[in-house]
Amino acid sequence: MKTINDQILQLKKDKNAVILSHNYQRAEVQDIADFVGDSLELSQKASKTSAAVIVFCGVHFMAETASILNPDKTVLLPDAGAGCPMANMITAEQLRQKKAEYPNATVVTYINSSAAVKAESDYCCTSANGVKVVSSINAEEIIFVPDQYLGSFIQKKTGKKMILWPGYCPTHVKILPEDILRRKKEYPNAKVVVHPECRPDVIDLADEALSTSGILRYAARPEVKELIVGTEVEILHRLNKENPGKKFIPASTKAVCPNMKKITLEKVLEALVTMAPVVKVPEEIRIKAFACVDRMLKIG
Ligand code: 13P
Ligand code: SF4
Repeated sequence: MKTINDQILQLKKDKNAVILSHNYQRAEVQDIADFVGDSLELSQKASKTSAAVIVFCGVHFMAETASILNPDKTVLLPDAGAGCPMANMITAEQLRQKKAEYPNATVVTYINSSAAVKAESDYCCTSANGVKVVSSINAEEIIFVPDQYLGSFIQKKTGKKMILWPGYCPTHVKILPEDILRRKKEYPNAKVVVHPECRPDVIDLADEALSTSGILRYAARPEVKELIVGTEVEILHRLNKENPGKKFIPASTKAVCPNMKKITLEKVLEALVTMAPVVKVPEEIRIKAFACVDRMLKIG
């Protein structure tokens, strides 16, 4: 009897598939993936793969981005219900209304958004390149959707005039300033790194605010021995695996993204057997959304 891992690896070969996993996926899902990364790295990988099938272990907007970049490939999201509540906090119609209020504004949209919202936007960005993307734009004002906290972080760093949408990540807002203060007391020599989706009063207490892969690179620095980590807890899997002997402390064990946890090895296998659920963006939306994602990938 073959193990589930062996069955997945065999089917992956047979179907010419690649498995991409976000840094918040279950440990066993990360371990079977061909590549594990943050949203920017995953969209870069998706834009370059020669595989016929992309099994996306992440949430819906990530699989949609892979489909936007690869209209001829089959993109599978092993649980069709794995969404991102923040991405659902703005619709294309709501964005059109905002654009009508500020007709001269440039729209920058966080990658955590639907393809339909991206199709209404000028630029896409991730937490890894948001500051770089916004800095590169020569505009009087910028509408930034949907994450108010990433938006205000970018605004502070760039000094640009930004109109923010009141979206937020329900997982990252569970991390509170008192959690950071308590951890700092427990580990007085530790550095503190958080994700820019955290509340501004949490970011203010941190040494750095970085994307998930930015956190991994920060942790690899030789001078970092103990690190308080303010993001989704599953990132500790890679942190521990890649940095033996270092100490990683979750800022709050409540920071769990239930949608990221919907993908299991069993569902990955099932997706490869049935070639479903497929995520495919309708062509008229895809073309417009592609322009917004492509502008970001060209900036880097
Ligand atoms: P990263 O792009 O930093 O991996 O973040 C994605 C995300 O959904 C954070 O909640
Ligand atoms: Fe969305 Fe937050 Fe989950 Fe990231 S952690 S996928 S922003 S709900």
